[in-house]
Amino acid sequence: MATYDVIIIGSGPGGYVAAIRCAQLGLKTACVEGRDTLGGTCLNIGCIPSKALLHASHMLHEAEHNFASMGLKGKSPSVDWKQMLAYKQETIDGNTKGIEFLFKKNKIDWIKGWASIPEAGKVTVGDDTHEAKNIIIASGSEPSSLKGVEVDEKTIVSSTGALELGKIPKKMVVIGAGVIGLEMGSVYARLGAEVTVVEYLDAITPGMDAEVQKTFQRTLKKQGLKFIMGAAVQSCEVKGGNAIVKYTLRKNDKEEQLEADTVLLATGRRPFTDGLGLDKLGVEMSKGGQIKTDDHWQTNVKGVYAIGDAIDGPMLAHKAEDEGMACAEVLAGKHGHVNYGVIPSVIYTHPEVASVGATEAELKDAGRDYKTGKFSFMGNARAKANFAADGFVKILADKETDRILGCHIIGPSAGDLIHEVCVAMEFGAAAQDLAMTCHAHPTYSEAVREAALACGDGAIHA
Ligand code: NAI
Repeated sequence: MATYDVIIIGSGPGGYVAAIRCAQLGLKTACVEGRDTLGGTCLNIGCIPSKALLHASHMLHEAEHNFASMGLKGKSPSVDWKQMLAYKQETIDGNTKGIEFLFKKNKIDWIKGWASIPEAGKVTVGDDTHEAKNIIIASGSEPSSLKGVEVDEKTIVSSTGALELGKIPKKMVVIGAGVIGLEMGSVYARLGAEVTVVEYLDAITPGMDAEVQKTFQRTLKKQGLKFIMGAAVQSCEVKGGNAIVKYTLRKNDKEEQLEADTVLLATGRRPFTDGLGLDKLGVEMSKGGQIKTDDHWQTNVKGVYAIGDAIDGPMLAHKAEDEGMACAEVLAGKHGHVNYGVIPSVIYTHPEVASVGATEAELKDAGRDYKTGKFSFMGNARAKANFAADGFVKILADKETDRILGCHIIGPSAGDLIHEVCVAMEFGAAAQDLAMTCHAHPTYSEAVREAALACGDGAIHA
């Protein structure tokens, strides 16, 4: 048994970042992880492996669709699926080992196994109970289930199984047009599968700017994805090796069905807190299963904190990281803070989709007077040269003060471009501040500046 200042439960982006910051701030720190490798869902079965497959399949798409026009003639590459999976695994290993190295460097103990909290100040792992002045729960989330759909991770898969398929599907049905469904659906569509996305709502990616939703869906359709919208999936059964997906169309209650060799269930995630003993400990939970915390990430049990997907808010790795850093600072007696108004979200399809701050719908609902500056990548020389001119940047600013309230991008490197707007918003900048900042030519980032110019006297290349 050892005594620590902090024990963190879970080594995903929330947990490992919290651990590193705690150690950097002089706290004796341990992190409990039951998986064989550090990094949680994000590094092992989420963000990182999916990005490897998105990258590889995008390269194939480029070779098939754009190489010839650029004067790169010859046969398109064929897919060696085993090698692609090996490349994905190498990417995972490089990252998880990197965290192990950072733990050693920062003298963080990795306690291997699954933790429970018998009482405040104590963490049990296997037969050992460790003492800690403070505990941070960073136990993450897991795919949520859907009534009538039993995931076997072979024919009917969750996001985990979708990263490990035995072969590339011929026909794939994706249940849910959210981030996971569209990212993984894109991967397999590029690799040759016939992908149909079945979505309950009438628009894809709920909560996103409506104009982006429309452009995004149109672009994905051009890439071969099919959509059945307004359709509630009722059941999915495996018969003779294939899966039958039954759904009801909301407009007329008509029941229809689809057959596929692979079905991806991507209808959301829920907090993962199993086995922690939170019930017995008396930790307050919300109806949705999230751990309730105060403004400093402390639960109602003194000395027990929680961050990341296990608490309220968007289930995003970088939100968890920020909470991890801020919570560590609170424990070290500093002033930890997260600005929840400036958390970007990115979908890593091609083109990428990124947003930060308010959408037009939210501003309208709040009765705010706002103006819109929009610029199409068609007017961006670099995007045109790279066959990446689909999409636009939209900046929303306060009508009177010109302060930036939100930004929504669909286009090349949107996930990187969004960050200059995040920085601007953190500094309380006006659209004119971005518009007056010199942007290098020719870069995609000029489209952001042009959208900012469009909030004022007008974009130049529109
Ligand atoms: P999601 O919540 O983004 O989307 C789920 C979709 O399924 C919704 O559009 C919903 O209307 C639909 N749906 C629900 N029940 C249905 C039914 N019975 N029939 C048809 N459609 C139905 O969930 P997703 O994609 O599983 O992602 C889970 C979480 O993981 C999200 O919070 C997301 O932010 C996070 N994530 C983030 C990534 C990123 O930042 N790039 C990548 C992957 C996941």
